[in-house]
Amino acid sequence: MNLKNKIKTKLKEIKLSNGFRVRKVKDSGNSHIFVYKNKELLSFASNDYLSLSNDKRIINSAKKALDNHGYSTSSSALISGYTKSHFKLEEELSNFLGQEKTLLFSTGYQANLGVIKSLVSRGDNIISDKLNHASLIDGSLTSRANFKRYNHNDCKNLEEMLIGTKGKNNLVVSDSLFSMDGDTPNIKKMSTLAKKYDALLLIDEAHSIGIFEKYGRGLIYKNSLNNKENIFVTGTFGKAIGTFGAFFSGKKDHVEYVLQKARSYIYSTSLPINAVEATRKSLKIISKENWRREKLFSLISYYKKNIKKSGFTSLKSNSQIQALLVGSSKDALYVSDQLFKSGIYIPAIRPPTVEEGKSRLRISLTVDHQLSDIDYLINILQKISRNLVQSQECVKK
Ligand SMILES: Cc1ncc(COP(=O)(O)O)c(C=O)c1O
Repeated sequence: MNLKNKIKTKLKEIKLSNGFRVRKVKDSGNSHIFVYKNKELLSFASNDYLSLSNDKRIINSAKKALDNHGYSTSSSALISGYTKSHFKLEEELSNFLGQEKTLLFSTGYQANLGVIKSLVSRGDNIISDKLNHASLIDGSLTSRANFKRYNHNDCKNLEEMLIGTKGKNNLVVSDSLFSMDGDTPNIKKMSTLAKKYDALLLIDEAHSIGIFEKYGRGLIYKNSLNNKENIFVTGTFGKAIGTFGAFFSGKKDHVEYVLQKARSYIYSTSLPINAVEATRKSLKIISKENWRREKLFSLISYYKKNIKKSGFTSLKSNSQIQALLVGSSKDALYVSDQLFKSGIYIPAIRPPTVEEGKSRLRISLTVDHQLSDIDYLINILQKISRNLVQSQECVKK
C-alpha cells in the first residue's frame, strides 16, 4: 500500500470507529460561554477554570506590552529572545511556587517533552502513571529511556516497579490532577517512595496551579513538597492562569541543566512579551483573589451533591474536572449532540484520549458558572440518559 492509499484507508477507519474529530469554529467566549454561529451556548468545555482569560486587567497588561515591545521576540531565549519580562516572570514564579529556579517554555507540551528528554536517556527508566497526559508520554518515548507504566494512582504498583529497577536511574512521572478523570495521586506517598528508592519525581501541575492551596500555588506546595532535591514541576499558563505559555521549576542546578539540554527550549522562539506580562498580572490576581477558589469549590460541591440525579456514572473527583462515563464513542457523541441541541457545549472525549469503552463527557467547572447552570445541565442530562437507556433497550430487543 502506498502512503496515499494508507492515508485514505486510515481516515475511513477513524470515521467508521466514530473517532473522527471535527473542530467547531468558536465566534467568541471562553470560561462558561461558547458562541457558535451566533448562538450562545452554555459551555463546560474550557480550561479557563478561574475565568481570567477575559479579565480586563490581564488584557491591559498584554496590550501595554504589545505597544512597548511589539509582538514577536523574533528569537529563541538563548540568542536574543530573553527579556527583562521573561526574567521577572521566572523570578516571580519561583517565589510563588516556593522553588529555587524556573524556566519558561512556550507550551506545556514543549516543557514536558524538553524536560523529560533532558533528564533521562537510553538505559535509564521512566516509571509513568498509565493515565498520564500525552505530552508526558511523548516526552518519555522520545527520550529512549525504558518506559514502564504503573496502574493509575496505584502506589503499590509504583513501588513494585521501583523495586524491580533498583540501582538504575529512575524518573517517576505523573500528573498531579488528571485531565480526563479529575482525580489526584497521593503525591506525598509518591515522594516518599521516590526518596526511598533514590528516584527523581516529575509532577505536571497543569490543572492544579491556581486551584489548589490557599493562594493557588498547586498541589506540590500544598503538600509541602516544593523546593525538594528530587522533585520537579512543570505547568502551563493556558488553563487556570488564563494566558499562554508554560514553565519548569525546581532546584537551581536541575533547572540550569534543563536549560542547557532541552531542545524544545533551545530551538524555539521564546514566549511573546505580551503573554509574559499577561501571566505576571494573572499570577498577582490569582494569589490575591481567594474568592475565585472559594466560589469554584462551592460549585464543585454543589455539582457533586446533585450529579447523581443525571442518570450517568460520575467518576470520583474533588476537583473542577468532573467526568461522566458514557461508554462507547457512538453513545458519547449522541449525548454531546443532544446537549448541543439544548444549548450546552460539552464535546465527547473518545479514544485514543481515553481507553476504549470509556468515552465520556469531560465537564469543567469555572468561576463564572452559576448554580442554575449546573441545575440546567443535570436536568438535560436526566432526559438524555432516559432516552439513551430506552434506545439501548430497543437495540437489545
Ligand atoms: C496535564 C497536561 N500537561 C500538559 C499540557 C499541555 O499544555 P499546553 O497546552 O500549554 O501545551 C496539558 C494540556 O492539555 C495537560 O492537560
